Order: sequence, then C-alpha cells, then structure tokens
Amino acid sequence: MLNYNIKSQYLPDICTGDESMELEDFFNLASDIVYAKTGKHLNDLQQVVLRGILQRHKYSQIARDFPYSEGYVRDVGAELFRILSEELGEKVNKTNLRASLERWRVSNVLHVCKDFNINHISGDVNICGDSLPSSAVPHPPSNEQTPNQDNPRPNVRLDLADAPDVSPFYGRTEELTTLKQWILQERCRLVAVLGMTGIGKTAIAVQLVKQMSDKFDYVIWRSLRNCPVLETFLSNLLQFFSQDGETPDRGDRLSQVMEYLRSYRCLLVVDDLQTIFSSGQLAGHYKDGYEDYRTLWEQVGELSHNSCLLLNSWSPPREIASLAGENLPARSIRLSGLGAAAGEILRDFGLADSTEWETLINTYRGDPLWLKIIATMIKDLFKGSVAEFCNYGMLPCVDLQDRLEQQFRRLSQLEQQVLSAIVGQAEPVSLAQLRTILQSSLEYLGNALLSLERRSLLEKPETYGKETVFSLAPVLREYLQNK
Ligand SMILES: Nc1ncnc2c1ncn2[C@@H]1O[C@H](COP(=O)(O)OP(=O)(O)O)[C@@H](O)[C@H]1O
Ligand SMILES: [Mg+2]
Repeated sequence: MLNYNIKSQYLPDICTGDESMELEDFFNLASDIVYAKTGKHLNDLQQVVLRGILQRHKYSQIARDFPYSEGYVRDVGAELFRILSEELGEKVNKTNLRASLERWRVSNVLHVCKDFNINHISGDVNICGDSLPSSAVPHPPSNEQTPNQDNPRPNVRLDLADAPDVSPFYGRTEELTTLKQWILQERCRLVAVLGMTGIGKTAIAVQLVKQMSDKFDYVIWRSLRNCPVLETFLSNLLQFFSQDGETPDRGDRLSQVMEYLRSYRCLLVVDDLQTIFSSGQLAGHYKDGYEDYRTLWEQVGELSHNSCLLLNSWSPPREIASLAGENLPARSIRLSGLGAAAGEILRDFGLADSTEWETLINTYRGDPLWLKIIATMIKDLFKGSVAEFCNYGMLPCVDLQDRLEQQFRRLSQLEQQVLSAIVGQAEPVSLAQLRTILQSSLEYLGNALLSLERRSLLEKPETYGKETVFSLAPVLREYLQNK
C-alpha cells in the first residue's frame, strides 16, 4: 500500500463524523493516488476525463469539449483506471470508481488513525484535533500568537507533495542566512531565487522549508513544471487552503488567495517558474496564456499581507526587477557555484586525487549538477581518478551536452548569435567589440546581453580594466565550440 503524506487530508471528514465525499474529494483523492503512483500530476486532459468519469458522463460527452476523438479520451480513461486499479486493489471501472475510492479511503483512514493515535498532530494536518473552523472567513489554524519569527507555530499545515527530497545538502550557509534574514526578519513578501538549471535553486528552497516551516501557518510547495494556467494554479491553492474551512466566496480566485496570504503567515514556494516563459524569446517573456501570472507577482509584491512567495526560476520575471530593491519587500538572489563545499559531492562519488578537486570544481564553476554529471563520468571511465580526467583537459560529456542543449534551445536567435560571437574570440569582449563583430544595433545587442545576463550565462571578468567585458564559463565555451 502506498504511504504518502496526502492521506491525512481525507481524515477530517471521518473525524467530524461527516463521511460523505463530494465530487471534489473523489477527484482529489484519485489524482493524489495517481501522483503517488506515477510521480506525475494529472495533465489537463486527464483532469477533465477524471472529472467526467466521476460525474458519470459518457466518453463522447467528455470528448466534446476537447479537440480529441472519443477513442483517445477512452484510452486516457483506461490508463487512469489501470493505475487506480493497482492501488485500490480491485478492478476499477466507470461504474465502481466512486465506491472503490470510498472503500480505499475508509480503510486508509482507519489505518492512519491507528498509526497516528488520534490526537497526534502530524506535520501535515491537525488530525482529529480541535474542531475545524467552519466560518467562511479564513481562520488562523489555532495559532493565537502574533506572527513573529521567534514564535514557532505548532500547527503548521504542510503541502509538500510536490517538493523533491534533496539530501544530502552542502554549503550555501551565506545564501541561507541571507534568505532567512529577508523572509523572517525583514518579512519580504516576494523573494526570487535565480540561477541556471542545476545550480541548486530547488535544493536551497527545500532546505529553507526544512529550516523555517515552524514559523508559518501554511507551507506550500508548487512546481510549475506542468505549466498550469493561473486559474488552475489558484484553484489548486484554494483547495488546499479550504481544507480547514470554506473558501471566502468574495471576489475572484486571486483575491481569495490574497485573502489567505493576508490572514495567515504562509510560505508559498513556486518552483520551475521558467517553464511558463517562452522559448526563442528574450528572458522573462511569458508563453501565450500565461501573462496573467504577472498580476500574481505584482499583487504579492505590492499589497500588504503576512506571507512570503518564494520563486525559483532560471530567469526572473521582468516585474521582479521593478519590485525588488534593498528597501522594498521584494528581493532576488542569484546563486553561483558551491565553491569548496562542492568537494563533498565529489567525496560522495568516491572520487580520488583530492588535490585535483579544486581544479575540477573551478572548471565546472562549482555547479552541483555539472559536477555530479562529470563525477559520474570520472567514476565510470577513469575508476574515479580526477587526475587522469584532468590530463585530457575538458573531455566532452554527452550527458552534460544534452543538458546544455535543452537550455540553449530556449534562447532567442540573437542571444545565440551573441554567444557564438563571444566564443569566436580568444579574449573576453566588450559591447563595442560585439557591435563590430555582429554589425548589429546597440539596442539589439544591449537587450540580448541583458537577457543572457539574466539567464546567468555570462561572466564579467574583473581583470580587464574599467571597460566591462563578457566571457563564458569553460563548460559553455566548450559546448558551443563543439556544437
Ligand atoms: N547545496 C547542495 N548540496 C548538495 N547537492 C546539491 C546542492 N544543490 C544542488 N544539489 C544537487 O544538484 C542537482 C541540481 O540541483 P537543483 O536544486 O535541482 O537545481 P535547480 O533547481 O537550480 O535546477 C540536484 O541533484 C541536487 O540535489
Ligand atoms: Mg529546480
């Protein structure tokens, strides 16, 4: 039987004597089971199909709202049934889905209640605890203390099903101190953690959650990797918030979420923000249909409330630039490499020749993902000898090239041209030199450089006097030269 942390969210019903499950409860339970089994959230089509099945609609009826054939929708339904049947321990079909889910829930609730000893407070929800708030207005989860970073909150509600497990975690002491200072002491409302894919944004956010969650009423982790539109994102948040009471029915979904952020101290982590930005454009350009996320960041940054939204992104939303500043409640931090702490990663891989590690770490700029990939190669090819690997200079590694390729495909054409121009020069180049090489206008070049800078792809060596010059990390240079 699966053991995952969403089970307890189905408990309050039984604990308060209300055994009936609504459509939304069936839907949430089934989607959580699928997530726990497959590690993937339901996509838009699967959600619609599941809802349709639960409402006992015919496949032809469900297919009407989609540009898919009835047969395709039926296949999607069959796949859902296959996954659910495995967990529910019986053959599930359209007619018995609700009943099977109900049976599963009851047996799991009994199981969990036994494990949790009824009044125990889990890190998830207050199982069978004090009576649940019934007011339509958000009601703080039995936490009477004034929000204060020194007051731990015993009844924190966690929704971390989306957060990966990152262990072990090394270094980043300074960054963690800065982020905690911003979030807890200075009560920043919007904090962006930026940096290249693999630099450790998710990892540091997980660490922050571990270290700070007792200072919040709600800690919620959401990844945008499946590109939910804003309305889906907000209604999903409201679903979680409203487990403790009813959702305020005033205003649109965004106002309702803001109401929760005002009434409670919430830490909302939004990971993988870059997936809602479009490829082939300059950094921070939203995909069609996703521009309204801008309003969310703006409201969270500008309006008064008690919560913090922590954004992880390869490149920042443009709005952050205007909202962030030393004296403003929005900040951003850009992660660079791990430095010497990256040695711990190499140690975990059992690499030899520790005197050469510093060279390896510098070459790969202390980037944990790059180093993990290279460490695997060193282990597989050179029995773990870093010295032997270094003898070959920068040996191209297909796994690393694949990762970089994914990122470079997202760049605009102009950015790609600028990178090629930089790689074509032996020395770092200035904006003026780039202009001569590419015969392009200053405006275009300036914007392309700014975009590359926002994507953390440029280095600006200090050793070249007053004029700002641009170069690339050796890994990127090598990748582009091979390309
Ligand atoms: N400080 C760290 N200590 C140990 N491993 C780390 C650290 N930061 C990142 N990693 C590892 O590096 C990889 C990439 O990190 P991740 O947080 O996913 O990067 P990002 O979110 O920036 O794409 C993961 O395997 C992660 O566990
Ligand atoms: Mg990440």
